[in-house]
This record gives sequence, C-alpha cells and structure tokens, in this order.
Amino acid sequence: MSEDRYLTFALGKGRLANKTMELLEKIGITCEEMKDKNSRKLIFVNEDLKLKFFLSKGPDVPTYVEYGAADIGVVGKDTIMEENRRIYEVLDLGYGKCRMCVCGPKSAKELLQHHEMIRVASKYPNIAKDYFYNKKHQTVDIIKLNGSVELGPIVKLADVIVDIVETGSTLKENGLEVLEEICPLSARMIVNQVSMQMEPERIKKLITELKSHL
Ligand code: PRP
Repeated sequence: MSEDRYLTFALGKGRLANKTMELLEKIGITCEEMKDKNSRKLIFVNEDLKLKFFLSKGPDVPTYVEYGAADIGVVGKDTIMEENRRIYEVLDLGYGKCRMCVCGPKSAKELLQHHEMIRVASKYPNIAKDYFYNKKHQTVDIIKLNGSVELGPIVKLADVIVDIVETGSTLKENGLEVLEEICPLSARMIVNQVSMQMEPERIKKLITELKSHL
C-alpha cells in the first residue's frame, strides 16, 4: 500500500491517551496539535509521518478498530474483553496496570462458595457473565451499571460487584474488599485485521520499536 496512506490511531480519552503519546514520543512519533489541552478537537494529524490520531471513549476504541475507521487502537484489556471485537491484540503496553475483581463486603465471600443465586452489579456485564457462568459455574443475576459501581452493595442493589481495582482505595473507603481476582489488566495495542494484511511492514516496525522502549 502507498506510503501516502495515513495510519490512524484511536486512543481512549484521558490518562491512557496521554501515556500513549508519551510512549510514542520516545520512538519519534509526536503530534504537536494534541498538546494543546484547551483544544476541543477530536482528530489530530502529523502530516510528515502521515499519521492521524483521534480520541474516543475507551469502549468505542475496539469498535473503530474492528470497522477499520482506525488501523490501530490503544485501550485497556478490560475493554477488549468486554467488547469482544474482531481485532488483533498485538502488544501489552505495560501501563494502566490494575485488576478485574469480584468485590463486596467481607460477609459476601460466603455467597461465592456455594453456587447460590446472587446479584452482581458491573460496568462489565460480559466479563461478569463469563466469569460466573463459565469459570465458576454459578448462576447470577447481572445488573449493568455505568459507574460508581461500589454503590451497588452499599445500597443493597447487589451482593457483589465486578470492577477494576487499581490502588484499592475506593473499595477501602466504602467498606468493601476484593473477594476474588478475575484477571490482571493493562493497556494493550490493537490492530484492525485488514490493516495488518495491508500494512504489515509499517505496523510491525511500530510494534518492534515500541517493544524496545517498554
Ligand atoms: C474505577 C473503578 C473503581 C476505581 C478503582 O472507576 O471502577 O471505581 O476506579 O480505583 P482504585 O482502586 O484506585 O480506587 P473510575 O474512576 O474509572 O470511575 P467510575 O466508577 O465512574 O467508572
């Protein structure tokens, strides 16, 4: 494919995008336009390197990459697991480290031992379903929430939650704890399946260079 084709990156807005730009800078990929924190622009271009970057909500990154609107994406492993899109996951970037866990009050630990029907609140219903149905063989009622999931057990909406734990302070400050760990998480680079066929050199070079800085 022509060298003139833009390679497009979809980045999950916020901390992950900032960390990713820091890492890309180490291998000589910059985007000056993106450094203006007051900008409301959503798409940024580096004309010299023929690169485009856009910022989206994290859960939309695998969608843009699956459909080829972006060649490459950077997103948390949690989102990759939850969205289950047809994409290649090519690199563990090592930052954004945290854990997907089942959490709740200490008293709820017992409810996880005997396959009883319990209520699980989560921003990640697919991950919760996979864990309880396929790994634990426990039938549960999953309630989708969109944030501040720790409220679930406190206000008795749910017995436990499936959520991300980073420092553990949100749990601690709300009288909850990790009851079971589902898996470790970190930021990953993902690639559109057709882009990988069409631009193998450019994408493999990028992966190799990034690897050497991790
Ligand atoms: C995430 C996660 C936990 C918290 C964990 O929430 O859902 O609530 O961070 O971090 P900690 O272990 O360091 O306390 P986020 O801040 O993304 O907001 P949300 O709850 O609205 O999703």
